[in-house]
Amino acid sequence: MDKLVIYGGKPLRGKVRISGAKNASLAILCASIMAGEPVLLENVPDISDVRVMIEIIRHIGAEVTWEGDSSLRIIAPSKLAGDPPCELVKKLRASNLLLGPLLARFGHARVSLPGGCNIGVRPMDLHFKGLAGLGAGIDLHGGYAVGKSGPRLKGARIYLDFPSVGATENIMMAACLADGQTVLENVAKEPEIVDLANFLNCLGAKVRGAGTDIIKIEGVSELGGCMRYAVIPDRIEAGTFMVAAAATRGQVELENIIPPHVEPISAKLRDAGVDVTENGDVLTVGVNGPLRPVDIKTLPYPGFPTDMQSQMMAFLSTVEGTSVIIENIFENRFQIADELKRMGARIKVEGRMAVVEGVPALHGTQVRATDLRAGAALVIAGLMARGRTVVSNTCYIDRGYHQLEEKLRSLGADLTRMRHGDGSLL
Ligand code: UD1
Repeated sequence: MDKLVIYGGKPLRGKVRISGAKNASLAILCASIMAGEPVLLENVPDISDVRVMIEIIRHIGAEVTWEGDSSLRIIAPSKLAGDPPCELVKKLRASNLLLGPLLARFGHARVSLPGGCNIGVRPMDLHFKGLAGLGAGIDLHGGYAVGKSGPRLKGARIYLDFPSVGATENIMMAACLADGQTVLENVAKEPEIVDLANFLNCLGAKVRGAGTDIIKIEGVSELGGCMRYAVIPDRIEAGTFMVAAAATRGQVELENIIPPHVEPISAKLRDAGVDVTENGDVLTVGVNGPLRPVDIKTLPYPGFPTDMQSQMMAFLSTVEGTSVIIENIFENRFQIADELKRMGARIKVEGRMAVVEGVPALHGTQVRATDLRAGAALVIAGLMARGRTVVSNTCYIDRGYHQLEEKLRSLGADLTRMRHGDGSLL
């Protein structure tokens, strides 16, 4: 597996353009298999999770072609060529989002229970309950979820016990082709949900209320195509660069930002003494004064995103004073603390709480990414640290960051990828 070799201690300076959102792209790719006409998606990040999802939908019969660096033309299958292949589905948690579209469009689905990052148990009970509420029969056996929906799903009133992003997306997509009205209550409000709803509406669906607690969907008999739809910018990629700028005590202009989407991150960085200023779709992040410790609780949007928790932990590890982080979404998301401790951080983890005592500096060593965002956090730690840091398991980072090394190098970072089999650098 590849490794990233980082020589730290250089403040990041300059401009960086943020790519399209990974999580919105993955959900929209799943929705695109319900389209009756061709779809052109723009601002799609060329990252390994997106490539795996493209392979999966090709297996079920979709024609997918890249047009340029970031646009995809998709022609959905009129009949299924096969089930999503187990070996690819296991690589990607978001492949569970095919269940709703397959059931709604083709009346049946057989999807192996997906994998993804090692950040917690990640059950699918809310997805199954919602789809069953729309009239689907869902059976679990042999590691597969097998669903049948008769000729059509039926609109229903569905309440989610927890505002799960994936369950909201799956049920919302399925309800678009159900008979009658669906009312989804206590849904997730993440910007990616709104983006998916906008895309579905572009196909001719009737989805209202995305971004609020209640989504109402009037089922339609079929969906059309979409001449062009641009995916929103990635708020987590943006947040990662914001935190990297702050952590290296640098000054970075981020382009292609929707500022309200990153407000939970901007607000927390401002609390910590970081300057964050907005100008249209450009955000400038810099450190010009003393930094302060902060407390963080991860919550569903518009709370602080769990996907930014690890990066903030890396940053706070060198902010003088005591910061407390509470992880409310995924129970296994503090594995990063052990790696940061190897770099000299002082962090105590107790259950869902981590207490971070700021130290003057981290020192470079060999560390291992345990999931996508932990990998990003270790890159940030390496950029801050004295000396050389080697981050292994970079495949996790490649899942979600488009041209991370190129972008960081353009901001003055000293990092290189050591390809698998090239032992010369170690
Ligand atoms: C999505 C994002 C992920 C992000 C997460 C929370 C994608 C591809 N991934 O993941 O990057 O970290 O939202 O913002 O969009 N849960 C249940 N039962 C279910 C579903 C979820 O108990 O049926 C629980 C989970 O275990 C977790 C919590 O709900 O504790 C949140 O999960 P969810 O919002 O569903 O996250 P994902 O959609 O998997």
